[in-house]
Amino acid sequence: MDTLLIKGGFPLKGEVTVGGSKNACLPIFAATLLTEEPCIIENVPNLTDVAYMGKILQHLGAEVSQINPNTWKIEAKNIIELAPYDLVRKMRASICLLGPLVGRLRHAEISLPGGCIIGQRPIDLHLKGLSKLGCTIVIKNGYIYVDAKNIKANNVFLGGRHGSTVTGTANLVMAAVLVPGITRIDFAACEPEIEDLCRMLISMGAIIEGIGTHSLKIQGVQNLHGCTHRVIGDRIEAGTFITAGLLGENNITIRGANPLHLSAFLHPFEEANITIDSNNDIHVQGNPQHLKPKEIITLPYPGFATDLQAQMTALMTVTPGISIITERIYPNRFMHVPELERMGAQISIEGSSAIISGTPKLYGAPVMASDLRASAALVLAGLIAEGETTIQRIYHLDRGYENIDQKLRNLGAQIERLSTDQVPLELAS
Ligand code: EPU
Repeated sequence: MDTLLIKGGFPLKGEVTVGGSKNACLPIFAATLLTEEPCIIENVPNLTDVAYMGKILQHLGAEVSQINPNTWKIEAKNIIELAPYDLVRKMRASICLLGPLVGRLRHAEISLPGGCIIGQRPIDLHLKGLSKLGCTIVIKNGYIYVDAKNIKANNVFLGGRHGSTVTGTANLVMAAVLVPGITRIDFAACEPEIEDLCRMLISMGAIIEGIGTHSLKIQGVQNLHGCTHRVIGDRIEAGTFITAGLLGENNITIRGANPLHLSAFLHPFEEANITIDSNNDIHVQGNPQHLKPKEIITLPYPGFATDLQAQMTALMTVTPGISIITERIYPNRFMHVPELERMGAQISIEGSSAIISGTPKLYGAPVMASDLRASAALVLAGLIAEGETTIQRIYHLDRGYENIDQKLRNLGAQIERLSTDQVPLELAS
């Protein structure tokens, strides 16, 4: 298992290009199951989660090939309806196969995904939505069995306790595009990743109105055809690099993301020197002295993204004053906090809020990554900490950040990936 070794305090300078969005790419890969014809997907990030989704599609019978490092061809001529536990348990997002299997085969058998470190992640809304379309759902022996032979268009309200559901919306849209009649989804998620999926489905022949809103209207069609689709840039990767820029006296440019997708993230930083040029490049000139404490609440899009909460927490640890970050999506998503505290951060958790007392300095320490975004927060903290930080279990990072160590090194960070045999003895496990 690789480890990252970071020597903190080196200024960042230069340009970085973000990859395609992981959370757009996964349902887009799943959507290729909706047609027998080949789909070409461009701007695919080179991530372990994406490669894994490719493997699952192969298991289901699709021909999957990587034409070049960021372009994949998927042809799902003959597919089966079964996604077993061994495949699904390793990646929660594989639940987004449910919609396309139902849409194409009118039958699906998928293992329930199992627990998740960032908190409870039920799929009741996915199932409620499918039942509303007339599907019969049975949960037995850890599997969801969906019989959709009587599927029909309907109006579905998809809101839950924490707002809309991203993957639930993706599933329902993908199930409905091949169902005759008009399906209306209210309280649909309007995340840019859902918008991207809808745009791909339209390029396959689907008819969808209301894209980018909480109300989607889908007019079912008989067949979908192949397409070429370019995945949007990863707004969470962009937000992570913007945070890196703000952490020190840095001067970096971030390319490849749509700044409009980052409005809620950029909004609280009026005091910071962040500019966007006519090419949509984001320029960040960091000056930690000018940073002000913040009160932030994570919410579904267009609110502040939960997937940037851990990174923001890292930034607030060195921002003078008291900041408060409240989690409304995953109330317990604070696994990064004890690790940041090992580096000198002063944070107390009150219910679903982190109260952060800015401290002038963090100190390097051996820390442990627990999930994807928590790992990113530790990398950010390591960049400004005095001394050396070692981060173990960085396979979490590789699930969602393409070559993050290389990209940071190109900006001037002192960051090194150590393979197991290079890890100092006291860290080896
Ligand atoms: N929820 C329910 N019932 C459901 C579905 C969701 O109560 O049936 C609740 C969840 O417990 C949560 C909230 O609704 O409190 C939102 O969950 P959502 O379904 O929107 O999350 P998701 O689709 O499982 C995606 C991203 C996550 C991201 C969330 C929220 C993918 C593959 N994953 O998850 O990304 O945090 O939306 O924006 O798109 C990450 O990239 O690190 C990550 C965890």
